[in-house]
Amino acid sequence: MATVQPPFRPRRFRCRDGREVRLRAIQAADAPEIVQAFERLSPQSRYARFMAHKKELSSAALERGVHPQPGRDCALVATVPAADGIDIVGAAQYVHNGEDSARTCEFAITLAEDWRGCGLAPVLLASLLRRARRDGYQTMEGWVIAENAAMLALARKLRFTVEPVPGDFAMLRVVRAL
Ligand SMILES: CC(C)(COP(=O)(O)OP(=O)(O)OC[C@H]1O[C@@H](n2cnc3c(N)ncnc32)[C@H](O)[C@@H]1OP(=O)(O)O)[C@@H](O)C(=O)NCCC(=O)NCCS
Repeated sequence: MATVQPPFRPRRFRCRDGREVRLRAIQAADAPEIVQAFERLSPQSRYARFMAHKKELSSAALERGVHPQPGRDCALVATVPAADGIDIVGAAQYVHNGEDSARTCEFAITLAEDWRGCGLAPVLLASLLRRARRDGYQTMEGWVIAENAAMLALARKLRFTVEPVPGDFAMLRVVRAL
């Protein structure tokens, strides 16, 4: 892996509809907000993201998610002000794909339902691609349910190629050289 890159510099992003979010790296203190963001997602969105009918996030997954290992993993969130401080309206992350020899990371991205189609998803994913490249990864991949038209269109827009998954017609792999 490359030397650890500087932390992600927080920035503001104005969506196409004029609403503004703050983009920043995830923090340990975000755990309760991640839980709330998960609870606000529809069952369909949860299934699209986790490929399972998840009713809650496991505490182990949550712990891992809010403690990315610098130089190896990265998680970015889009936040907006809320009565209790902030709401997380988008999150995107990559992790090492688990194969020791591989310089491949696996990404996932989720937006709150009412923050879709406003230009936020491509910005989050493009930021991830840049960070992953600087972390020394050569390839980014993701697993997408075949009927997830929005994710497939987003992946194609960011120049991922879409491949079948042998033996699994319900799933596609999106992959991009970095
Ligand atoms: C995947 C996700 C992050 C994409 O965010 P988004 O805001 O919908 O993305 P975009 O607005 O950039 O849409 C991408 C493209 O898909 C198109 N699109 C959106 N919904 C669509 C649908 N139901 N059918 C066909 N195309 C669709 C959009 O028109 C857009 O294309 P365009 O920019 O050429 O107009 C979001 O839908 C989401 O959070 N889904 C639930 C979680 C998930 O599926 N994660 C992916 C697994 S890693």
